[in-house]
Amino acid sequence: MTFDLALQAAPHAAFAPAGFVIDDESPDDIFAREKLLDASFGPARFLKTCEKLRAGRLPARGLALAAYDGARLVATLRLWPIQAGPGRAALLLGPLAVASDYRSLGLGAAMIETSLDRARARNHRAVLLVGDEPYYRRFGFERALTEGLVMPGWVEEARFLGKELAPGALRGAQGRVGAAGARAPLGNEGPLALRAAA
Ligand SMILES: CC(C)(COP(=O)(O)OP(=O)(O)OC[C@H]1O[C@@H](n2cnc3c(N)ncnc32)[C@H](O)[C@@H]1OP(=O)(O)O)[C@@H](O)C(=O)NCCC(=O)NCCS
Repeated sequence: MTFDLALQAAPHAAFAPAGFVIDDESPDDIFAREKLLDASFGPARFLKTCEKLRAGRLPARGLALAAYDGARLVATLRLWPIQAGPGRAALLLGPLAVASDYRSLGLGAAMIETSLDRARARNHRAVLLVGDEPYYRRFGFERALTEGLVMPGWVEEARFLGKELAPGALRGAQGRVGAAGARAPLGNEGPLALRAAA
């Protein structure tokens, strides 16, 4: 967990549905988070193109989030520093997963809104993701903003979406999307990457 009092004074009660807390994920929750991701995506999740941008890297500072029902982790979302083409800093959103018995309660939306709010507060300018457009368009993600960009592997183009946090942040964006996060120290990498540093 990171402590930056100016930006992380309190959990985001503003977006969390009643009864839930959204906060920085805790080191104690790594295994619960990985179990939730396994259950949601299966082992093939490590083969996804997005994983090339995350592997061995740390998530962005203040943007490794979990939702809790009491002590139980019931949702996870992390955002990662990337380059959206040369010289254009951005974030990659995902993976997002909500425990199957907690879906359709607004937790997914609350996690996304919380992360976008935190990202804005930290002066991040744009967010990319690969995901279901029918779900993500309600948060302002659109394909038109990524048309000039190329992911570092195959993705279904219709699912490669972008959102500007600062107006014009993705205008004219082109080129290859690359990893940009701080490298995880040995023992704190891959699925175990937890401590945000970039
Ligand atoms: C996708 C996911 C994160 C949504 O979480 P959630 O907490 O249920 O989301 P919310 O409560 O904010 O929104 C639920 C609404 O989104 C809709 N929705 C869920 N997944 C959707 C999808 N892939 N496409 C379109 N709509 C979707 C639901 O039908 C529901 O609609 P309703 O409000 O009309 O009933 C969750 O279903 C999940 O963890 N799925 C498995 C992992 C996954 O697919 N992650 C996203 C990667 S693209």
